[in-house]
Amino acid sequence: MPGIVIVGVQWGDEGKGKATDLLGERTDWVVKFNGGNNAGHTVVIGDEKYALHLLPSGILSPGVIPVIGNGVVVDLEVLFGELEALNARGIDTSRLKISANAHIITQYHRTLDKVTERFLGKRMIGTTGRGIGPAYADKINRVGIRMQDLFDENILRQKVEGALDQKNHLLVKVFNRRAITVDEVVEDLLSYAPRLRSIVCDTSLLLNTALDDGDVVVFEGGQATMLDIDHGTYPFVTSSSATAGGAATGAGIGPNRLDRIVGIVKAYTTRVGSGPFPTELFDEQGEWLRSRGFEFGTTTGRPRRVGWYDAPITRYATRVNGITDLVLTKLDILTGLAEIPVCVAYDVDGERFDEVPVNQSDFHHATPILQYFSGWKQDISRARTFEDLPLEAQDYVLALEEMSGTRISVIGVGAARDAVIVRHDLID
Ligand code: IMP
Repeated sequence: MPGIVIVGVQWGDEGKGKATDLLGERTDWVVKFNGGNNAGHTVVIGDEKYALHLLPSGILSPGVIPVIGNGVVVDLEVLFGELEALNARGIDTSRLKISANAHIITQYHRTLDKVTERFLGKRMIGTTGRGIGPAYADKINRVGIRMQDLFDENILRQKVEGALDQKNHLLVKVFNRRAITVDEVVEDLLSYAPRLRSIVCDTSLLLNTALDDGDVVVFEGGQATMLDIDHGTYPFVTSSSATAGGAATGAGIGPNRLDRIVGIVKAYTTRVGSGPFPTELFDEQGEWLRSRGFEFGTTTGRPRRVGWYDAPITRYATRVNGITDLVLTKLDILTGLAEIPVCVAYDVDGERFDEVPVNQSDFHHATPILQYFSGWKQDISRARTFEDLPLEAQDYVLALEEMSGTRISVIGVGAARDAVIVRHDLID
């Protein structure tokens, strides 16, 4: 059962690290297949804390080969910043492999991300400002720069010229910025080439061979279903495929190599940036959830928007990803509430919707139809079996499971790495 995909169900920050940790020692490869340094996760090992934005979490486990697939956009300054910081702390990063087809985020992508957001004014997406959208736009427009271009100066120069031709008009005439020269970009990119020679390769071939050999390969999705470019709350989304299908295209493997699709879902909901969010709370209950759950962005530090659990979203994510197992995280954050509201359907201008509406305007107008569950007061962070949970917490989990249409295989009950209840093994 070697190919396992991990995807976020909601708008990101569901705590995917819990699932990666659980698979831990049994994992041979960890593959990042979408996004770039817009993600952010903090990994705690012993007394040491590591903040990673671009590198897959597998970089910290000596027995794991971390891979950055072709579906990722790579900021080379960030890449080497993270590698050097890890090396300085004695972590061996020499196992890292990056696809020759992965695209590069350059200085002009970062600049364009920021000026475009400013230009959009109140229609802004609320991006992380890391150049993600403009880099993917270039990929789709066929004017992107790929890893392999760094090894052929002539080709690189031609491609950068092609990319900057239009952009400089835009930067100077529309955004009132200075033009960016081909030389400065080429010189900057070439400075990384010698260090990339041993890292960049055909990762699709590597991964297919690994799967043929029966290795356990974990495909770690960045962002989440509701931020997916096709299936999320467009246009308030990221620019990549964050759903399970993205693992196949973004890593160069066939969809039939994916044996388990694990959806990570928080026991309540959060979102960063703009866009619809039906269960969002604006009152002191929201403040309570935010501070108890420590809901502040890892990449940008922004306070996250918070709200109750939204069952139609989990059902939707189960459908568009083909989720086989759910990992419910942060159940302990709800401890202490007298009753816990859950969104079971939406009211859209007087009409009931049991599923996520396909029309953007309907979703913007959706207000939650809530069902209330009894809360619990006991500390649950030491529960290790389902039966250790108070009956109210058990009922809450079983109700979510029924509404989601997939089994909840793992429940996160605390911040500690081992604070989980495993009901079904994620690899068997
Ligand atoms: P971008 O990915 O920087 O283009 O941002 C697009 C949207 O995705 C914004 O609303 C971001 O806040 C959101 N986003 C991107 N990465 C993450 C993440 O890792 N967690 C949560 N939200 C994210």
